[in-house]
Amino acid sequence: MSPLRKTEGGCEVFSSDMCVIGGCGRVGLPLAIAFANKGLNVLIYDLDRNRMETVRNGVMPFLEEGCEEKLGRVINKSLKLIDDPASISQSKFLIVAIGTPLEEHLNPIYAGMRKSFQALLPYLAEGQFIILRSTVYPGTTQKLNEFLKENGAQVHLAFCPERIVEGKALAELESLPQIVSAFDDQTVQVASDLFRVLTKDIVVLEPIEAELAKLITNAWRYITFAAANQFFMLADKHGLDYRRIYQGVSYKYPRIQDLPKPGFAAGPCLFKDTMQMAAFSDNTFFLGHAAMLINEGLPNYIIQRLKEKVDLRDKSVGILGMSFKASSDDERDSLSFKLKRLLTMQAKTVYCTDPYVSRDYFVTAEELVEKSDIIIVATPHAQYRRLSIAKDKLVVDIWDFYRK
Ligand SMILES: NC(=O)c1ccc[n+]([C@@H]2O[C@H](COP(=O)([O-])OP(=O)(O)OC[C@H]3O[C@@H](n4cnc5c(N)ncnc54)[C@H](O)[C@@H]3O)[C@@H](O)[C@H]2O)c1
Repeated sequence: MSPLRKTEGGCEVFSSDMCVIGGCGRVGLPLAIAFANKGLNVLIYDLDRNRMETVRNGVMPFLEEGCEEKLGRVINKSLKLIDDPASISQSKFLIVAIGTPLEEHLNPIYAGMRKSFQALLPYLAEGQFIILRSTVYPGTTQKLNEFLKENGAQVHLAFCPERIVEGKALAELESLPQIVSAFDDQTVQVASDLFRVLTKDIVVLEPIEAELAKLITNAWRYITFAAANQFFMLADKHGLDYRRIYQGVSYKYPRIQDLPKPGFAAGPCLFKDTMQMAAFSDNTFFLGHAAMLINEGLPNYIIQRLKEKVDLRDKSVGILGMSFKASSDDERDSLSFKLKRLLTMQAKTVYCTDPYVSRDYFVTAEELVEKSDIIIVATPHAQYRRLSIAKDKLVVDIWDFYRK
C-alpha cells in the first residue's frame, strides 16, 4: 500500500495518491517519477499527446539524469498516464506543473493559469488538495484560491515551488528543502507530509512569501551570472585576460568563491523569473533589468569584439552548441539562437551544431569546424573537447573551455 494511503471508515476515499497536471514536462515528470518510485500511486495528465505516448512507452521525452531508469521501474505500475481529464477526480493530490511564460512585453500572464484551473473545475472532487508547483507571479495563489471558492470547489490549495536545477532533478528533489505554503494549517500539514516522502526538510512560508522566495532564487542566480559577465566584458574590452584576473582574485580568497565564471546565462527560468520580479516591483527592479541587459547583451558583445578584429561580411561563423546549457537538450530561450540571428545579419554564412538539439539546417560539429573561419563556443558540451580545430581558425571561447 502507498505510504500515504489512509482509509476513512474502511473505504479508500481516493483511488490514487496524486495526479500531476503537466506531468510530462521538465518539472512534472521527474516529480511524478520520484513519487512513484517511493511507492505512491501517481497519475500523469498532460495536453502534449506526443510526450504522453513517449512516456507511456517508458522513454523520457528529454534528458534528465537517472530518470529513464526510474521511469522504467514504475511505468504502467505505480505510474500511469490518463487521457481523460475526468480521471483526475480519483486523486487526493493534484500537482499543477504547467508552464508559466511571459507575454510579449515581459509581463506574467495570470489568465493562462486561470484558464487551466477553469478547465480542471468540472473534474475536481471534494476534499482534494491542489498543489501549485509552477513558478507564479506573487499573489497568483491567492487569486486562484478565490477563483476556486467563487466556483464552489471544495478543495484545499497550496503553493510548493520547484527549485531543482534541470539535469539534477531526481537528486535535488531529495536533497533540497521544500518550501510549503497554504492558507490554513491543515493544508500546510498535509502538503508537508506529502513532500516528507521525498525530503526531510520543510520550510513553511505564507503563499505570497513563497512565491517571492521562488523568484528571488532565480533572480539572484541571474544577477550573479550578470556580475561575472560584466566583469568579463569590462576586462576583455581593455584587452585584459579575464581568466588570469579571475584565478588571481579567487585564489584562496574566501569571499569571492561564489563568483561564477562568465558565459551565456539563459534558459526558460532565470530571465523569465527576473522579469516577473521586475513586474512585481512595478518596473523598479533596476538590478534585475541591469542583469537582463548584461546577460542578453553578451551575444552582441561577442559580435562587436569580432568586428574590431575582422570583416564579418566575408567570414563563415560556426556556433558550437545551441541548447541553453551544457549537457542539456533544452533549447528554450537559448542565447545561441539569439547569436545566430544577429550573425545572420552580419556574416557571410552561419553554421550551427548541437549533439542534443536538432534542426534541419544544423551540420555536424566536424563539418562546422571544417567550414567556419570563426568558431564560437556558445554551449560548452563535453563532446567538443575531441574536436581538432586548425590553428588558422579564430576561436571565441568566453567559457575558457579549450584553455588547458
Ligand atoms: N524547467 C525547470 O528547470 C524549472 C525549475 C523550477 C520551476 N520551473 C517552473 O515549472 C513550470 C513548468 O516548467 P517546465 O520547464 O516543466 O515546462 P514544460 O513546458 O517542460 O512542461 C509543462 C507541461 O505542461 C503541459 N501543459 C500545459 N498546460 C497544460 C494543461 N492545461 N493541462 C495539462 N498539461 C498542460 C505541457 O504540455 C508540458 O508538457 C514553470 O512555471 C517553470 O517556471 C521550471
